[in-house]
Amino acid sequence: MNLEIIILAAGKGKRMHSSLPKVLHKVADKPMLQHVIDTACLLSPKAIHIVVGHQSDRVLEMINTLPLAQRELIHIAIQKEQLGTGHAVACAMPNVDKDSCVLVLYGDTPLTPASLLSKFYASLSDHDLLIMSAYTDNPFGYGRIIRGDDNKLVKITEEKDANNQEKQIKEVNTGIILAKSSTLDAYLPRIKNSNTQGEYYLTDLPELLINEHQKVGVMIAPDFEMLLGVNSKTQLSVVERLYQRRKAQELLELGVTLADPERFDLRGQLECGQDVFIDINCIFSGTVKLGNNVIIGPGCLLKDCEIGDNSVISAYTVIEESLVKKANTLGPFARLRPGNILEDNVHVGNFVECKKAHLGQDTKAGHLSYLGDAEIGKNVNIGAGTITCNYDGANKFKTTIGDDVFIGSDTQLVAPVTVKNGVTVGAGTTVTKRISSNEGALIITRAEATVIDNYPRPHKQH
Ligand code: UD1
Ligand code: CA
Repeated sequence: MNLEIIILAAGKGKRMHSSLPKVLHKVADKPMLQHVIDTACLLSPKAIHIVVGHQSDRVLEMINTLPLAQRELIHIAIQKEQLGTGHAVACAMPNVDKDSCVLVLYGDTPLTPASLLSKFYASLSDHDLLIMSAYTDNPFGYGRIIRGDDNKLVKITEEKDANNQEKQIKEVNTGIILAKSSTLDAYLPRIKNSNTQGEYYLTDLPELLINEHQKVGVMIAPDFEMLLGVNSKTQLSVVERLYQRRKAQELLELGVTLADPERFDLRGQLECGQDVFIDINCIFSGTVKLGNNVIIGPGCLLKDCEIGDNSVISAYTVIEESLVKKANTLGPFARLRPGNILEDNVHVGNFVECKKAHLGQDTKAGHLSYLGDAEIGKNVNIGAGTITCNYDGANKFKTTIGDDVFIGSDTQLVAPVTVKNGVTVGAGTTVTKRISSNEGALIITRAEATVIDNYPRPHKQH
């Protein structure tokens, strides 16, 4: 039997108090719906049906950004009015094959492990309907699993329809169900909306089937945390931390040292070599690769970058789309904007900003500089306050600096400009393309100083 997956994503999410549709709120910088789609794809379904409705244009916009391989699996079903989860599933059914097996997932439950869903799928056997429950000490808001004296499932009762006794029940409906397509086609149209919310509840299915002696099973999930649904910003923050704790745990198990797993944030993919140390409050986004013995100081932001073996990135350094090779020392407070390549043993110190700069081996820029659109050779010293003036207000130009160059402090390099190998530039010099020099020369501009004796310094007027 083929597997088809229906993901419900049409709801408004009133309890989020936001103009953004609920399923687009992010966990680890990725929309919750995208987490669910990624998980669904891991089950290799024949098709994924996404039910959209509230602000469907925004949800579809997100879906259009997904990789082609995922989009090819996705069919969209429109639920014009949000009449409840049962109605939402019914909206997708016309696109589902008659002989498929259907797994229903909610777009607001982003952490569900694919391994749990595989196990669930494998448990359908001869059941007409299988539901997934879990135990929690805090069942508020969830549908309760009502069992009879024989411990067999009787029905699911929603929080708002539950009496005081039912509200004490700690076994809850996770929202995940599995059924044959034919069962859903037969029973969904029979769901009524005679409840407190006037909605067509998907959760009315078990009772309907049980009354007609169909086989309904319950699989109890071992860990409710990963099945938490997000209805509010509080729950979103809880789910975010659970996700981060899980990622931190995975890294710890691989041998990475985290100063504090509670203060670690991964918003993408992080690959680490051996003996990596990550201090508190760092954020990794996009795809980040750290080599062996890399040290990341506190408060660093690393996005889409690679850091080579034995490099030390000190506190509050920001690195984007850059390649930092071996034994580099960066920061504290260094900033690499996109497009840099730092060869081995480079030092970029505090308040140095680099953009599209290539720094050769053993080159050092220790303090307070801007290096943009620059090709800098090996063993160059960039003095404090050096600026590449790469922009004339309309266009950007390149600065080229040879090997073994010494740039004195407070130098302006007005691009396009080239400084040849072994040149020394004196402090405070403005280098332009009109200054031509040979290798090993000294370039220096010195305005003559004026001295006025007994200068009457101005006094504050009262
Ligand atoms: C639902 C379940 C509840 C379960 C809980 C688990 C129902 C009636 N209740 O409650 O038993 O314990 O999830 O998290 O199913 N949606 C639509 N169209 C609609 C209504 C909802 O697409 O007309 C989508 C929402 O976007 C959301 C999902 O269905 O992704 C669940 O809806 P929500 O309103 O969050 O249901 P809960 O009250 O959490
Ligand atoms: Ca929910």
